[in-house]
Amino acid sequence: MHLVHPAPSRPVSGDDLLDAYPWPDEGRWVRAMMVTTLDGAAAGRDGLSGSISSSVDGEVFDAVRRLADAVLVGAGTLRAEEYGPMRAKDADAGRRAAAGQAPAPRIAVVSGSLDLPWSLPVWAGSTVGPLVLTGPSPDPEALATAREHAEVAVLEDLEPATLLAALETRGLRRIVCEGGPSLLEAVVAADLLDEADITLSPMFAGTSTTPRTDGPDEVARFDLVHLITAEGFVMARYTRPGHR
Ligand SMILES: NC(=O)c1ccc[n+]([C@@H]2O[C@H](COP(=O)([O-])OP(=O)(O)OC[C@H]3O[C@@H](n4cnc5c(N)ncnc54)[C@H](OP(=O)(O)O)[C@@H]3O)[C@@H](O)[C@H]2O)c1
Repeated sequence: MHLVHPAPSRPVSGDDLLDAYPWPDEGRWVRAMMVTTLDGAAAGRDGLSGSISSSVDGEVFDAVRRLADAVLVGAGTLRAEEYGPMRAKDADAGRRAAAGQAPAPRIAVVSGSLDLPWSLPVWAGSTVGPLVLTGPSPDPEALATAREHAEVAVLEDLEPATLLAALETRGLRRIVCEGGPSLLEAVVAADLLDEADITLSPMFAGTSTTPRTDGPDEVARFDLVHLITAEGFVMARYTRPGHR
């Protein structure tokens, strides 16, 4: 894996790769991690992002989330993808403890319906108990089921600012939003995304399985920070203008 921008180009791996995705020392920071194909697909023909990803994208995916406080995902992603448990890793214990963090990131799932795949190992198998963010007046039966698997925060609405405030209240300020496209678009439209870590996959997959979104009112331009490349994949880190 090579970091090719900014110059000079150099190999990058392990903790060096981790250092390429720093978190600010204080304050809330929201980064997105997404993979897209050459034709803008967010998932392959099987409806999963794994089929347009690769091991090198996976290495960056790990680096991006390793020192996060929370991994924020929309219910659509959890219903589509086999989300594995978020477990503490020995390699991260020292850094996380020194930063005053819990031993592993906490998964936070956004769902109005509370129609979630409760059999996934991410609920019972994660080191830090999962969090579900839902809107006002949830269905009582669905709420009772959700509370068997996670802490459920019943919020006044599911606007991105409300979601992020609910995370911050719980001490979760380093936030990776892993999508999907609908949730990410809402965060961008609310001007609350600080960083976009986007992998360009060297494939055309067609967009038949990619969710259609309404589109934000205005385009949001980001600044390029770095480009890493390996095996034809390009892993780019962008930040909001003025945010680094
Ligand atoms: N390429 C990638 O990197 C990547 C990453 C993630 C996902 N994906 C793919 O994207 C697809 C899923 O994405 P998606 O866009 O359909 O779903 P999503 O963004 O993951 O989730 C949408 C759901 O989140 C809940 N929600 C609550 N408040 C929301 C708000 N303010 N904005 C948006 N959502 C809110 C709703 O859940 P309820 O319906 O429960 O109320 C809504 O249906 C899958 O095919 C997945 O494989 C790709």
